[in-house]
Parts: sequence; C-alpha cells; structure tokens
Amino acid sequence: MTGDYLTNPQAYDQLMARMTVDSYGNQALFDSIQRLQPKSICEIGCGTGVISQGMVSLAERVMITDVDNVFLDYTQRKIGTDKAEYRIFDATQDTLDEQVDLIVGRFVYHHISDDDKQRTLANLRRNITRQGAIVLLDYFLPHYDDESQKASSVERFHRYRFSLFEGYPELLMLEQQTYELADDGEHKVCLRILVDQLAAANLHLSEDMLIRPDSIDDPDLFGMHLLVLKPAGIASDQFNSHNKNSSYNRIRS
Ligand SMILES: C[S@@+](CC[C@H](N)C(=O)[O-])C[C@H]1O[C@@H](n2cnc3c(N)ncnc32)[C@H](O)[C@@H]1O
Repeated sequence: MTGDYLTNPQAYDQLMARMTVDSYGNQALFDSIQRLQPKSICEIGCGTGVISQGMVSLAERVMITDVDNVFLDYTQRKIGTDKAEYRIFDATQDTLDEQVDLIVGRFVYHHISDDDKQRTLANLRRNITRQGAIVLLDYFLPHYDDESQKASSVERFHRYRFSLFEGYPELLMLEQQTYELADDGEHKVCLRILVDQLAAANLHLSEDMLIRPDSIDDPDLFGMHLLVLKPAGIASDQFNSHNKNSSYNRIRS
C-alpha cells in the first residue's frame, strides 16, 4: 500500500505525542542502532519524522525516505536539509544508489500487504551491505501456539491497539483498515510468519526483543517487537545492555 493511510500529518503527530507507550520502543530502537554503530542509515516509511530527528546524529550519512511525498516533504521541513538526504523510496521494490549499513523502519511493516512482504524483505536485504542490518519496530499479534488460540490473539490485539486511538475516529478507521485482521489477515502482523519468510529473503533474525512497558499489566496483551535482521550467515551480536527505564526482553537470538 502507499501512504494513503495518513491523510493528515498534523493529526498523526498529535496522536503520536499521546502514545507514551511507543516511547519504550523508540528507546530500544535507538539503543539498538547505537550498538550496531552504522556509518550509513536509511529510514524507510518516515511518516512525520517521529524517529527521524533522533537518527540524524547516529550516523555520518542518513537517508530519510517514504513512499509518500506529502509525508516526506513534511519531515524534510521539520528536520531540515543540512542533516539528512530525503528520497522517495518504495520499500517493496526501489533500489538505493548505494548499499547502506542499516535500514530502519518503525511501524512500516504492517503497511506492507501480505503479497508484498516476501519481496520487500528480499529487496531490503539487497539494499544493505554484507555486514549490514535491518531493524524493524512494530506491533505483532500476541503469540499463539495453535489455530484454536488464534481468534483470541487477534481479539486481544484489536482491543489493545484500537483503544489507543480513542478520540481520533479518522485515524481509528484507517488503522482498522490497515490491519485487516478480521479473518485470515493475521499474516499482516504475525511474527511466526515473518520468521518463516526470512530464509527465502536470505536474512536471519539476529535479535527479537519484546518491548513490555511496566504500565501494561496483561503480558499477553502487548506485542511490540524490535527485530534485528541480518544477512544469512552473519553471526548474532552479543546483546548485553538493558535500558533501566523499560523492560525489554530478548526472546530470541
Ligand atoms: C504508520 S506510518 C509510520 C510512520 C513513522 N515511521 C512512525 O513511526 O511514526 C507508516 C508509513 O509507512 C509508509 N509506507 C507505506 N507503504 C510503504 C512502502 N511500500 N514503502 C515505504 N514506505 C511505506 C507510509 O507512507 C507511512 O508514512
């Protein structure tokens, strides 16, 4: 899909400012980027630049991209041109002029249609260096072991995600359309399915952190994951730092 999800950058920014829960994910994301020490970063699906500002100091070269020029222009005006380059980039198919050390995408994966996911992962792989990485932060369905638990996983996901959009009917409607989880749409945000797709994209899951803020009582309800993907055959990094203000659990490496 294209950027039509967001019709109003100002409304999106207001909503994001209210989403304090997301700040735990952002902290984990920035910690992860610092550990990887990339020289060049490409952010995909920058939207209104919620994390773009924080990235410009983390690498010598930062490219900020989106498939949608309205949001790219908005972010460029917000951050300025002296610190980053701005490009239209469709993650499903576009190619950068040169490979980068790190591709970062926050809340972009769930916008990619199921049919395009495999191709997108393979395409992102082609746009990073051999020692490079792809870091994705997104909400995924609560884990379920078998099909009988799937409906309740989807229901819990809906209940939590959509409660965050109270007071923003336009964005709530667009969020519901984007997730399309009613029937078999769980592929949209199913971590198990993403993991299955990685091998075909010549990638492996190097880190998987479940971000679980202390404010969330129900451990099954929350499913924000930070994923570090690396080219197949590259060893996982040692992960030994934890942010004291949030609890994120390293659940696979
Ligand atoms: C929910 S917003 C997230 C924006 C921002 N990353 C953030 O965390 O606030 C999703 C963004 O992904 C972009 N997007 C959707 N499909 C895309 C694609 N195929 N390639 C690149 N960006 C895409 C949209 O235009 C939108 O800006």
